[in-house]
Amino acid sequence: MKLSKTPLILAVDTSCDETSVAVANGRKILANVVSSQVELHKKWGGVVPDIARRAHQENLPVAISEALKRVGLDLDDVEVFAATQGPGLAIDLEVGLHYVQDLAVRYKKPFIPVNHMEGHLLSGLILNSQGNGRFPESDIDKLLPALGLLVSGKHTELIYLSDWGKYEKIGKTLDDAAGEAFDKVGRMLGFGYPGGPIISEFAKQGGANELIDLPIPMERSGDLNFSYSGLKTALLYGLKELEADPSAPDVGTLAHDLSYAFVDAVKKSLEVKLRSAIESYPEVKSLFVGGGVYKNETISRRIGWVARTYGLEYLLPEAKYRGDNAAMIAVAAYRNYNQGDYITDLEKIREVDRIPRLSL
Ligand code: KG4
Ligand code: ZN
Repeated sequence: MKLSKTPLILAVDTSCDETSVAVANGRKILANVVSSQVELHKKWGGVVPDIARRAHQENLPVAISEALKRVGLDLDDVEVFAATQGPGLAIDLEVGLHYVQDLAVRYKKPFIPVNHMEGHLLSGLILNSQGNGRFPESDIDKLLPALGLLVSGKHTELIYLSDWGKYEKIGKTLDDAAGEAFDKVGRMLGFGYPGGPIISEFAKQGGANELIDLPIPMERSGDLNFSYSGLKTALLYGLKELEADPSAPDVGTLAHDLSYAFVDAVKKSLEVKLRSAIESYPEVKSLFVGGGVYKNETISRRIGWVARTYGLEYLLPEAKYRGDNAAMIAVAAYRNYNQGDYITDLEKIREVDRIPRLSL
């Protein structure tokens, strides 16, 4: 098998409710197709794994053809196949993983099972189709050692990156993830699913309000962990009190200020932990971030501002690469590939299985 330095990679992610396929040349993303299922899950108020599985089965072959067509290539041209192995929903992960394993076996090409969280972590390294990005290959080693702050629907984690592929989890959520809290609070405020984007929109029109006082979660916990379940409960009680108080404004009219207060508390909790992490690891040179919650610009800008105050490079991916996508899976696959972490033995490729609770 002849292997090139920057191979043509086909990467797939079906870990949750987006069917995504990317075609990449090393870190350079040539095509990134994301087929969202939000509309299918909306009426259930959250992702229904079985509905997602059927949608992935229908959408995946179409998304693969579409991604290849956009760049005028065929499956024959693909040099490396990659798919998310975990974490994610078991019956959804296996749709993409098995499909791509079969392709690798059929075309006799290397296969790379990818950790979805490594994808989010390295999403700031994505280069656009012209190969432009802030960090050319010759410069990326200067970004290490680094910190990663991942804030998605299921994860809120601080990572120490001593080297590429060497990740140590130094902080995590003790209960709900920040994205999960956004979605639960969204439901409480009657916004439906997913709550994150709607709360973020409402928050833009809200402001500080003396009737609403939310705690900054884990502000003084003395460690690098997070917790969002208490914040959600505090908001619920606040809401109940306001509803019971005849002199308080209608909750509907308070929705903007409640959203503002919630975003502000999440933002401050992330900032507090980021500051302690940077102060505990003063040698770090950059901050990698990823996950759907960074689509909130108030949060992503603040985190960037904090990173830069400490002189760190801030690797914020473009908005379209912050939520789930396969471009980040391609970039993580390329990192694995560069370090010789790929499977060529067809029998071994067939043996790879999904790991729903895979951790960094
Ligand atoms: O990274 P992601 O797309 O999927 C996971 O791997 O979990 O993150 C999804 C999370 C959801 O909880 C969603 O509500 C949140 O990201 N999210 C947002 C926004 N867009 C999506 N949260 C805040 N503001 C947004 N604009
Ligand atoms: Zn994700």
